[in-house]
Amino acid sequence: MDIYMLMHKETPVAEVRLPFEKNKLEVTALHQASHLPVGVSLRRGKVDTAALNDWWIDRFIPDTRSGLNEALSDFDLPDPYILLILNHGLSLSDHYWLAQKSTLSWEQLNFFTNPFPTSIGDALMGKRRFDGVSFRSPDLTCNGNLKKCWAILDGKRCLVKAGSGPFQQQPFNEVIASKMAERLGIPHIPYTVIWDEGLPYSVCEDFVTPDTELIPAWRMMQTQKKDNQTSVYQHYRSCCKKLGISNMAHALDQMLVLDYLIANEDRHFNNFGLLRNPDTLEWLGPAPIYDSGSCLGYDKLTAQIRSGRNITCKPFKKTHQDQLRLVTSFDWLDLSKLGGIEQDIREVFAGAEEFIDKERVEAIVTSVNQRIQMLETFTLTQQPQADSTENDVERNVAAEYGMGQQL
Ligand SMILES: Nc1ncnc2c1ncn2[C@@H]1O[C@H](COP(=O)(O)OP(=O)(O)OP(=O)(O)O)[C@@H](O)[C@H]1O
Ligand SMILES: [Mg+2]
Repeated sequence: MDIYMLMHKETPVAEVRLPFEKNKLEVTALHQASHLPVGVSLRRGKVDTAALNDWWIDRFIPDTRSGLNEALSDFDLPDPYILLILNHGLSLSDHYWLAQKSTLSWEQLNFFTNPFPTSIGDALMGKRRFDGVSFRSPDLTCNGNLKKCWAILDGKRCLVKAGSGPFQQQPFNEVIASKMAERLGIPHIPYTVIWDEGLPYSVCEDFVTPDTELIPAWRMMQTQKKDNQTSVYQHYRSCCKKLGISNMAHALDQMLVLDYLIANEDRHFNNFGLLRNPDTLEWLGPAPIYDSGSCLGYDKLTAQIRSGRNITCKPFKKTHQDQLRLVTSFDWLDLSKLGGIEQDIREVFAGAEEFIDKERVEAIVTSVNQRIQMLETFTLTQQPQADSTENDVERNVAAEYGMGQQL
């Protein structure tokens, strides 16, 4: 049988067909339009199937995930989509899933309160231990290009994520970014580093709970059509406003300032968002800052970190200088709180010399200090100016650690 109920936690949203060979949802009956995924609208009373399937495809591990092909060959599978049905499409970041007539309830199946085996996660992390027993895994519905898996550590659901390339820098960067956010009072998810078989991994707790869910900014951007005169930044704010979320400026100010300081190169629209109550659909506010690891020259040579040139910027403007001009107020910012951040940075990299030598650490420290100073000057001299579409990012594409994923 290929008939399912698309569920939002315990709310039936729509009856769908999912022909095995196509991996495309076809809506056969709509039950609760308000619970459709954000950005999936009705056209003359009918669900926009193309939009629904864009959302559905986005739920999977992207084809560009580092190490995916090796893991799939372990399962003897051509693609990960068929596995998704076996885990009911359940995730640890939101509450959508597919039920069949005979399926158990959300209470019995969800990954937030029920344990899950790590066999798929192990395979995705490059540890060839897949035993073929169970496909139940929240890893099948976790996007992003870096190798990663969900694990239950001390009873808490945690995302364990690798670095890439010769420097393996992203796990350390996550920690530095969260330390800077902490000092500046910016809501964020704390990260730590663990080592396994000589490689560093970042670990952060799931910030989603049975009563909240993450709605990535990408979904918000799908709720309105953007015209050519509206900047990407204004479009995002206007999408939020139309959904009744009006106080976005401050959270965006904080994110843009942090991204400037760490020279973040990958804040695409799936790397920030909002939290919502899945039962009442009430908007709860911005999600804490997460996934800031592609920063501090993570894939650049030490000399390039020193030069500070060719730093990619997302999601709104092509340069960090232009993006900083979008900040509406620096009143909340106390840069003196970053006094001593040099020492924090050195401590985070201590023990990682095999990947990040002393010279590289010092180049990173110097570059952070320079950006703090430039930001200070900017806050003192900057005159408010109207935003336009000039220098807008045209295509938001996630950074590739081998290949790329278009958003
Ligand atoms: N702490 C968290 N709690 C809940 N969901 C999370 C958490 N961290 C990440 N996610 C979800 O998992 C996805 C993948 O995580 P993350 O963005 O950190 O991976 P990534 O591989 O670095 O991504 P990218 O391709 O953007 O570099 C995120 O897009 C988000 O949906
Ligand atoms: Mg990401």
